[in-house]
Amino acid sequence: MDKDTAGERIAGLRKVIEYHNNRYYQQDDPEISDAEYDRLLRELQDLEKLYPDENIASSPTQRVGALPLAKFSSALHPSPMLSLANAFSEEEIIDFDARIKKLTLTDSISYVVEPKLDGLAVNLIYENGLFVRGSTRGDGITGEDVTQNLKTISALPLKIKKNGPIPVPPFVEIRGEVYMEIEPLHKLNRRRLAEGEEPFANPRNAAAGSLRQLDPKITARRPLNIFLYAAGSIQNTHFSSHWEILQALKAWGFPVNPLIEQAKNIKECIQYFEKIGGKREGLPYDIDGVVLKVNDLALQAALGAVSRNPRWALACKFPATQATTIINDIIVQVGRTGILTPVAIMQPVNVGGVIVSRATLHNEDEIIKKDIRIGDTVVIQRAGDVIPEVVKAVSSKRTGSEKEFRMPVTCPECGSETVRPEGEAAHRCINLSCPAQLKENISHFASRGGMDIDGLGEKVSAQLFDAKLIQDPADLYFLNSDQLLALERHGEKSARNLIDALERSKNPPLAKFLYALGIRNVGEHIAKILAGKFGNMENLMKAEFGDLTAIYEIGPEIATSIIQFFHEPRNKAVMEKFQKAGVVPRQSPVILNNAPLAGKSFVFTGTMENMARSEAKIIVESLGGIVHSTTTGKTTYLVAGSKAGSKLDKARSLGITLLTEEDFLKLIGKK
Ligand code: IVH
Repeated sequence: MDKDTAGERIAGLRKVIEYHNNRYYQQDDPEISDAEYDRLLRELQDLEKLYPDENIASSPTQRVGALPLAKFSSALHPSPMLSLANAFSEEEIIDFDARIKKLTLTDSISYVVEPKLDGLAVNLIYENGLFVRGSTRGDGITGEDVTQNLKTISALPLKIKKNGPIPVPPFVEIRGEVYMEIEPLHKLNRRRLAEGEEPFANPRNAAAGSLRQLDPKITARRPLNIFLYAAGSIQNTHFSSHWEILQALKAWGFPVNPLIEQAKNIKECIQYFEKIGGKREGLPYDIDGVVLKVNDLALQAALGAVSRNPRWALACKFPATQATTIINDIIVQVGRTGILTPVAIMQPVNVGGVIVSRATLHNEDEIIKKDIRIGDTVVIQRAGDVIPEVVKAVSSKRTGSEKEFRMPVTCPECGSETVRPEGEAAHRCINLSCPAQLKENISHFASRGGMDIDGLGEKVSAQLFDAKLIQDPADLYFLNSDQLLALERHGEKSARNLIDALERSKNPPLAKFLYALGIRNVGEHIAKILAGKFGNMENLMKAEFGDLTAIYEIGPEIATSIIQFFHEPRNKAVMEKFQKAGVVPRQSPVILNNAPLAGKSFVFTGTMENMARSEAKIIVESLGGIVHSTTTGKTTYLVAGSKAGSKLDKARSLGITLLTEEDFLKLIGKK
C-alpha cells in the first residue's frame, strides 16, 4: 500500500470506528460483531504504526483499547486543587463581597458566575497540546490517575486545538467537572436494573462510579460528559482574567458551560443565582448552586486561600430539597432480577414542589446504618429528578413505639427463599417464576439479544401474563392462536405471526438461549463462553462449582449464580417445560467441546511473519481455544513473534509455556 492510499484508509477507518464506538458504547446498539470491530481496530493500529500522522492523538485507537488496571496509581497535582466555601443565603453572599472589597481596598469587584455542576472534579494535564494525564481531585494534593478512563469521554479533547491568538502552552493543567446528564442516567439505571445491578442513587455517584472503574471499557459505556471551568499551572502563557481563561478554553476546543456569564457586581451575581435557580429543573444535568469567582487574576492571587478554600470564590448553594415526615410502613419491592428493595411508605410531604410519599431505603445495611424504624420521623430529600431517599431518622422524636425492620427471609411476592450473596448489599429472590420478575423476564427472554422473538415486547409479555396465559418463558411455547385472539388488540394475523415466530425460535444457538434465561451475572459474553464449554444444557446444568470456576473468565460470583439458578426447583420445572415444548438449543458451530484447542488460552505478542494476529485469533477460536490480550496465571500459551515486549517477560515470570511462531503453526496444523 502506498502512503496516500494508507492515509485514506486510516482516515476512513477512524470515521467508521468512531461511528461503531458510538453505536456500541453510547447507544448500546452495536451494528457489527465484536470480532469485526476488533478487526477494524487492529487494522487501524497496524496502519498507524506503519504510517504515523499528526492526527493520531485524536484517533479512536487512543480512546479505547487500554487494558484494565489492577489498581489506580496516585497522581500528585502540580498545583493543589482547592475546594470552595459555601454560602446558603443572600446575606452570606453580600458578606463575601464586602470581605473581598475590604481585603483588596477596592470598591467594585467584578465576577464570573457559573453553574455548579454536581459531578466529580478532575485535573487534566496537557503537554505540548497533548492530553498526557488526568486524575480525580482526591484530597486536593494527590488524586487517582484515571487517564485511560478520561480518554473514553468523547467530549474531552485529546489534543488542544490551535485556534486564534492564544498559543498552546507547553504545559497546562485544566480543571473541570465530569458529570452525567439526567436522562442518560435514567437509561443507565434501567439497564443496571435489567442486568441485576443496583441503580445509582444520583448523578454524582454515577459519574464517580463510572470514572473510577479499573476497566476503561466499562467507563466507555457510561454516558459521561465534561465541562471545563479553570486552569491550574500554565507555562509561557499569560492571562489577566478568569474570563479570558474561559475564552481560551473554548477556543482550544474544550467544552465550557454556555450558561457562564460575567457579573459587574455582587447584585448581578445574586440576580444570576436567582435566574439559574429558576432554570434548574429544566436543565439536562443536575446543579446544586452557582459559583462566583473574582474575575481579576491579580486580585485572586492577592486574596489567596484559607485552609483549602480560595478567598476569591464562593459556592452559593440552592436550598436543599429536603423535608421532614413520618414513616408509616416499610414495604419490600421485588425488581426485575429479583433484587428486594425496602421502600418507606410515608405521610405525603412536599419536597421542593413535588409531593412525595415513598422513598427508597436501598437495602438492609443502609437501614441498619441509619437506624431507621417504622414510625420514625425522618428527613427525606430529592436530588434533582432522582428517586427520593431517606437521609436520617430524627431520633429525638422517638416515642419508644417505633418498630425495627428486618428484611424478609422469603420473597414477599412468591414465597421463595431469598439469598444475600456474599459481598453484596442486596437480598434477592432467585425464583424464575416470581410474578414480580416474570413479566420483564419474559420480555428479556424474547428480546433481541436473547431469543429475538418478533412481536413479543414488554407490552405483549405483560398482557399474556396478566391474562394468566403464561407464567414463565417456557409457557410461551404452549400458546395457541385461539388464546391470543381472545386478547385485546390481537387479530388473526398478529396471532399467527407470534405463533410462527415462537415456532421458529425453537432451535436457538445455545449462547442466545442461555443469555435469554436471564441468569444473574450471565450476560451475552459469558453465555457464549458457557455455550462453547458445555455444548448443551444438560452438561451445564450438571456442572459443579469447580467445573465452572476452572473456566477462564468465570469466577466464584458467576459460578454461584449459575449453580443457584439451576438448583431452584421452579427453575428446574421451567427447564423441563422447555424440553417438553421441543425447545432445543443448538451448539454454537465454531467452538467444539472436543476441539483440539478446547480449554486452551492464548496470548499473542510481537509480530508474526506468516499470519496476521486477527487471522491467528480466528483459527484458535475455530479450534476451540480462546485468545486474550493479557497474560495471567491461567494463560496456557504465550505466542511470541519478533520484537516481543513486556508481555514476554511477564509470561516468563508466570511460568507460562512460550511458543515461537513456528511452534504455534505446528500446533494448529499449518506446518
Ligand atoms: S471551581 C477554587 N467551578 O465544586 C476552585 N468548581 O466545592 C475550585 N464545581 O471540587 C473549583 N462546578 O467539583 C469550580 N463551575 C465550577 C464548579 C465547581 C462544580 C465543584 C468542583 C469542586 C467543588 C468545590
